[in-house]
Amino acid sequence: MKLINKTILITGASSGIGRQTAIDLAKLGNTLILIGRNKKRLEEVKKKCNKYAVNYKIGTSYIICDVSNEKNVKEACKLVFEKYNKVDVLINNAGYGEKRSFLKTSTKNFKDMFDTNYFGIIYFTKAILPSMLKRKYGHIVNIGSIVSKMAVPDMSAYCSTKFAVMGLTESLRHEVDGTGVNVSIVMPGSTDTNFFKNDTFKGSMPGKNREVIKTITPKEVTDRIIYAIEHNRFEVYAPRQFKGVMSLKNNFPRIYWKMIKKML
Ligand SMILES: NC(=O)c1ccc[n+]([C@@H]2O[C@H](COP(=O)([O-])OP(=O)(O)OC[C@H]3O[C@@H](n4cnc5c(N)ncnc54)[C@H](OP(=O)(O)O)[C@@H]3O)[C@@H](O)[C@H]2O)c1
Repeated sequence: MKLINKTILITGASSGIGRQTAIDLAKLGNTLILIGRNKKRLEEVKKKCNKYAVNYKIGTSYIICDVSNEKNVKEACKLVFEKYNKVDVLINNAGYGEKRSFLKTSTKNFKDMFDTNYFGIIYFTKAILPSMLKRKYGHIVNIGSIVSKMAVPDMSAYCSTKFAVMGLTESLRHEVDGTGVNVSIVMPGSTDTNFFKNDTFKGSMPGKNREVIKTITPKEVTDRIIYAIEHNRFEVYAPRQFKGVMSLKNNFPRIYWKMIKKML
């Protein structure tokens, strides 16, 4: 799909990867629907996007919506279809992580994170996929993580949600094959956003050796999201070098485990 003149809904558009992706897609000539909870930040992103949309009849807008609340999501999508009539691309990006050992992660911590990182995707996909199937056109991108395939210690809740996103996306891929609708999972590594700014990280990243884990920019992730859509790729790593690490895990697991143990 060529990303121009498309109507694109992006969750978690108020910050980090979602914000950057919204702005870059607006620059390419697309209309964005921004989803998030922080009105002030959404307003700022909307203004930035609309700078590039002056020639379009309907510009970028935002809807305040908690993705973990199914009723909220249904209401938001109703508004979307009333105003825009269609969604060509759905980017399920909203999510958060926390750093805690397994025993310090309460059952509620697990459930809350699943509500946002996993069920948020379920709610939006259920609300939008039927219209894409009807039009035989559309692309859904789920933002997983490198930990969708390679779990790290002290983030069992987060890794579980992102492994679940992988399973969901792969299963959906089979189901929509040949319908005109495509699905992708984009898996970023550590990215410089507000993600690590909550108290549980206390300025640190998972693992002891922060310096050995390269952090990428939101822009690098956005480029990979655009690549996934324009080239219809199912699994996309950001950066792409992670593909090599995955291949090491699959083909030479003992070397992988030695290496990862040293790193973490
Ligand atoms: N940063 C990384 O290292 C990294 C690596 C791999 C994957 N990821 C994934 O990338 C995605 C974006 O994260 P980021 O790094 O850009 O972090 P971020 O800067 O903290 O942005 C997170 C976004 O998610 C939104 N969000 C969170 N909970 C929400 C909820 N219940 N309802 C609606 N919106 C919600 C936030 O919006 P509001 O605050 O306005 O609600 C914000 O726009 C997440 O899925 C994350 O798991 C991040």
